[in-house]
Amino acid sequence: MKLIKLHTTTSTNSFLKELSKETRLDNFTVVLTDEQTLGRGQVQQKWQSEPFNNLTFSVFVSFNDLKIIHQKYLNFAVSSAVFNTLESLDLPKLTIKWPNDILSDNKKLCGILIENQLKKDKINSSVIGIGLNVNQLIFNELPDAISLKIIKQTNFDLDKLLEKIVVNLKNQIRNLAQKNFALLERDYLSSLYKFNKPSMFRDEINQHLFMGKIVGVSLEGKLQVELEDELVKDFGLKEIKFL
Ligand code: BTN
Repeated sequence: MKLIKLHTTTSTNSFLKELSKETRLDNFTVVLTDEQTLGRGQVQQKWQSEPFNNLTFSVFVSFNDLKIIHQKYLNFAVSSAVFNTLESLDLPKLTIKWPNDILSDNKKLCGILIENQLKKDKINSSVIGIGLNVNQLIFNELPDAISLKIIKQTNFDLDKLLEKIVVNLKNQIRNLAQKNFALLERDYLSSLYKFNKPSMFRDEINQHLFMGKIVGVSLEGKLQVELEDELVKDFGLKEIKFL
């Protein structure tokens, strides 16, 4: 793996996206930083992370033949790579919350931001950004966040964790390149938070609470929830809240 280590940057995703425009990058080039000044999350949110204590990095991956309509499998591959790495640490109730948060005991350990460069109907390359809470102990403004150190009461080596994630990412991206879509889907759904369990949600469009169960993810990457009348409704990221 080719590793670019920075002390500080706005966002490793932004840095790597710019770099990929200027240079021909090797597959699995990693940009790692001690500190981000403008860390970005899903849906234009900020990603806050204590400098030096956590992993904030991005990985460049290019594809030969990945169609945009298969985009959701890229998300499955990345989520499962991080999930599998953390699973080996024996953490309590580890799950993937759609689309790609990794939770332990319902608290957020890791966030993922995948940004794709498209060419016609294909994904040419992706910048996969991963923020993993490792040795941070205090999350004042983030009551729903947790770190490995809080859970396991011990410090973790950031470089070793990074190495393991990248190894697992390579394995999962191989599955994607080989079009093992059914395997990727099965692995992802088997770890998915609230999958197939009757649960309460809020429809963010009309502010209604409703009971339903998650039955899958559509080709557009939307969450498919079976309602009480057995109809299945698709929800985008801003359209549903888990209660
Ligand atoms: C989310 O949960 O909303 C996604 C968070 C993604 C954070 C990572 S940290 C490294 C990379 N650089 C960024 O600016 N964001 C991602």
